[in-house]
Amino acid sequence: MVIFKRFLPFVRPYVPRLLLAGLLVTGVALINLTLVRLAGTLWDVITVQHDADKMTRSIGWFLGLVILQGLCSMGHSYLTAWVSQTVVADFRKHLFGHLQKLTVSFFARRRTGELLSRLMSDVTVIQSLVTEAPIDGVKQLVTFVGGITFLLLMNWQLCLLILVLLPLLVVVSKIFGRWLKSLSTAIQDHTAALSTLTEEVISGIRIVKSFVQTERERTRFSDQVEQTLHLTLRRAGIMAVFIPVISLLTFSSATAVLWYGGRQVIDGVVTPGDLFAFVLFAGILIGPFSSAAKIFTQIKEAQGATQRVFEILDAKPDIDDRPDAQPLGTISGHVRMEDVTFSYDTRHPVLVHLSFEAKPGELVAFVGPTGAGKTTVINLLHRFYDPMEGRLTIDGRDLRDVTLDSWYRQIALVPQETILFGGTILDNIRYGNREASEATVVAASQAAHAHDFITGLPDGYQTVVGEKGVNLSGGQRQRIAIARAILKNPRILLLDEATSSLDTESERLVQEALQRLMENRTTFVVAHRLSTIQRADRILVLDKGQLVEEGTHTQLMERKGLYHYLYTIRLNEPTT
Ligand SMILES: Nc1ncnc2c1ncn2[C@@H]1O[C@H](COP(=O)(O)OP(=O)(O)OP(=O)(O)O)[C@@H](O)[C@H]1O
Ligand SMILES: [Mg+2]
Repeated sequence: MVIFKRFLPFVRPYVPRLLLAGLLVTGVALINLTLVRLAGTLWDVITVQHDADKMTRSIGWFLGLVILQGLCSMGHSYLTAWVSQTVVADFRKHLFGHLQKLTVSFFARRRTGELLSRLMSDVTVIQSLVTEAPIDGVKQLVTFVGGITFLLLMNWQLCLLILVLLPLLVVVSKIFGRWLKSLSTAIQDHTAALSTLTEEVISGIRIVKSFVQTERERTRFSDQVEQTLHLTLRRAGIMAVFIPVISLLTFSSATAVLWYGGRQVIDGVVTPGDLFAFVLFAGILIGPFSSAAKIFTQIKEAQGATQRVFEILDAKPDIDDRPDAQPLGTISGHVRMEDVTFSYDTRHPVLVHLSFEAKPGELVAFVGPTGAGKTTVINLLHRFYDPMEGRLTIDGRDLRDVTLDSWYRQIALVPQETILFGGTILDNIRYGNREASEATVVAASQAAHAHDFITGLPDGYQTVVGEKGVNLSGGQRQRIAIARAILKNPRILLLDEATSSLDTESERLVQEALQRLMENRTTFVVAHRLSTIQRADRILVLDKGQLVEEGTHTQLMERKGLYHYLYTIRLNEPTT
């Protein structure tokens, strides 16, 4: 019931069509009942009345009804499929839209493969229960009620006999259902784990190979597959027993009817045609019974799926616009962080009473040992997270008082690892500004030192890059990312310098490109390169989430503190 209630808003626009499908399926079931009844009559016409004309007429009726039933069936099949596929498409769009609204913290806690399986397979499981099952349910209900009514009218003792077997069927179904539920949940968990594992290995294939772990990954995969197989086979075993047991119970009643009814025909109490119809009716009651069992397992499966899917839909973005948030107009780029304390899990503080400011156009560099909180500061500046205490301001306005989108439009983030989307290089550079003309794209690429290598590629700007741009070098990808940022023309630039060392030529090109990108913008950079650090107007040295030193390169070197120490060991490192 909860499943249906939660899904109702998605089905509601299509209720009229579903009702029509229900009507058509009712027609199919009623015609089915009539055909069975007619078969009995026909039997009597042939065996008892020997009336050729009546037989021809009956067969004519038969044919007409079968054609009508076929038409109804066509209509309801297509309508049901149409509604259920449309609902699933709508729902996926909604889910994906919601997923994108969620904040970075949500994704930090979850694995991609797991979210993928919720969006794909879980949605399908729920969809078939919510749209197809009710239509099938209507059909079975009509068959059941019609069949029972007919049986009662013909011979209530016989009918009662059949009905005695019903509670038995329900109990048996329940017992099997409980088994199947726990198995199905375990199978789904294992299947999800399997796709997560596959996804991890495929996207990390170079690491797997490089660390010579293909064997280990194969074993991990095989173990997982074996476990899933074991569970699936157990479920198949239970299902294999389940269906014959139900059929046996159902057929026993038919046999009982035949035995009891046969004696009545012999005694001349009922006609052979009536008995024939009676047995057929008892037979078609198998449909509703096995269908009920099927819906039962479907519900069990859908319960787990619903929980997983609606967990996403119920998740609220941690960061959202305040009701009175105003869009940010043109800004000069004066950023202040005032006494900010922050923690990812509200227990272990990552930033403690941190304050600093950057005047428009300044370059502020963050330096510090690993885990000091440098990336966290960038996350807060971007407003991927909000501070627990203190505040951030832009030109004197609290960041929380302006709309997220208008703030994001003023920033460009060049992360440590370059993300390129599947598509052409042109599309990737235009990512933040779809309408940009080709001339502007070329200008941006030239500024980013990317134009020359792009035009050197066989397809130039139309070259398609893979999921992670595997066919481009690290330095080339970084320069595409820089061109993308230049095209966005932001007031604020957030830069997490890549620690991976490039060859000297690439390094120089990237460095020059970055320098152009930083011109006339307020720039925050997690700095690893000496050239960046030396140019910074201010260097903030972080340690364990606290600001321990602040100043220019020369000032900090004179202090002989943490900065001096970090700087000296870095100089002595063989690389970087
Ligand atoms: N999503 C997260 N959830 C919980 N804790 C996190 C999360 N991201 C980072 N942390 C923790 O916050 C602290 C600061 O991490 P941060 O990534 O800001 O360090 P960093 O200075 O950028 O380090 P590095 O130089 O290695 O990149 C670390 O102790 C880290 O374990
Ligand atoms: Mg970092």
